[in-house]
Amino acid sequence: MTAFALEPIEKASTDELRALQLKRLQGTLRHAYQNSPVYRAKFDAAGVHPDDCRSLTDLAKFPFTTKQDLRESYPFGMFAVPRERCARIHASSGTTGKPTVVGYTLKDIDTWSSVMARSIRASGARPGDLVHVSYGYGLFTGGLGAHYGAEKLGLTVVPFGGGQTERQVQLIHDFRPDIIMVTPSYMLAIADEFQRVGLDPRESSLRLGIFGAEPWTNDMRGAIEQRMGIDAVDIYGLSEVMGPGVANECIETKDGPTIWEDHFYPEIVHPDTGEPVADGELGELVFTSLTKEALPIIRYRTRDLTRLLPGTARTMRRMEKITGRSDDMMILRGVNVFPTQIEELILKRAELSAHYQCVLTRQGPMDDLTVVVETRAGLLPQSEAAQGAARLLQHDIKAYVGCSVAVELKPEGGVERSQGKAKRVLDKR
Ligand code: DLL
Repeated sequence: MTAFALEPIEKASTDELRALQLKRLQGTLRHAYQNSPVYRAKFDAAGVHPDDCRSLTDLAKFPFTTKQDLRESYPFGMFAVPRERCARIHASSGTTGKPTVVGYTLKDIDTWSSVMARSIRASGARPGDLVHVSYGYGLFTGGLGAHYGAEKLGLTVVPFGGGQTERQVQLIHDFRPDIIMVTPSYMLAIADEFQRVGLDPRESSLRLGIFGAEPWTNDMRGAIEQRMGIDAVDIYGLSEVMGPGVANECIETKDGPTIWEDHFYPEIVHPDTGEPVADGELGELVFTSLTKEALPIIRYRTRDLTRLLPGTARTMRRMEKITGRSDDMMILRGVNVFPTQIEELILKRAELSAHYQCVLTRQGPMDDLTVVVETRAGLLPQSEAAQGAARLLQHDIKAYVGCSVAVELKPEGGVERSQGKAKRVLDKR
């Protein structure tokens, strides 16, 4: 089998997949219970034992794992192997408090590389491709995850990492990569830099972009594809569950990431009650790892909101493109608002660019949202056309999202550029 053929499990029947999942789930629950004191205590407190898992639906009897659990056992307390058996440690920076630390055995690194190779292949990579990686290297899982996957698939990798935007453009121009792996927001900053130095991004060698690590809308996909002249495909993942490559879109359908269910078992639960909801219903995504050694993760609450959808390009289920994280949800006069909803409406206006930020302030008891957005290159914020677009955006937000907001226009470069994950919500309350 060449690295570019589908793996047998990608073509397996649902029955075959469910049988494999159950076997692996039972093994994971036993491994967690026997080797991680934290899990043993959690299971005991909930009155459940690995033997209670006789079907996939039995998983719902087991307790959730949260970021808090990982923080409380900082740094290595939840590991189910001695630290000495770990080949690598990663950590998520986190905006507050201690970082979340995760560990991998050599076998875990191999599993991760395999699902990343599968993801890059599903994205539309071809033998011989050159991959430019602009995800950050280091404790963040993006850079090294992409790197190992691309190597495993047999591609050539340029391990650039984040930042130094001018040099990114120079090397893309000189090395002629076929694929770029980067956050969608940083792709836009790179596209701006192309134009600043007088290069047409549509004329670059790039054919494909594999974008993730932050929420982005289908409208943003359209904007990036148009601007860069490439296919834009969605990659999803999180460090606690593995890193990038938990799910990835297939280029032939571009209809939401296919979850690599042979390694990561998904559930959707009601964000408040924790009760599982049926496939197709919106809720919080929860993952259980099925093959991890160093840090088995049982029912991890991702805080990401989406729904499970039937498979299309593969038998495995898909998730709908993420609408947002519960952490990013803004509540304005009782209305729940996500930055992605604002993004969709901004991108309907040709006068505006995709660089934006939601700024929350408070005067008295009320919260106020100001949408700060850049006008498109060459258009002055005070121009009639830009002002008209701002009024229409304000109207659209009121009509579609249901709350009154202020819109503030900035000239080109007025909104801070991300070099990784964009910070969409600025809370000044
Ligand atoms: O962001 C892993 C990753 C790296 C994914 C590169 C894709 C590409 P964390 O830093 O732990 O890991 O952040 C995980 O980022 O819970 C989501 O909220 C968000 N996220 C990741 N991918 C997507 C995506 C990496 N495709 C958190 N769409 C997750 C929307 C995403 N949100």
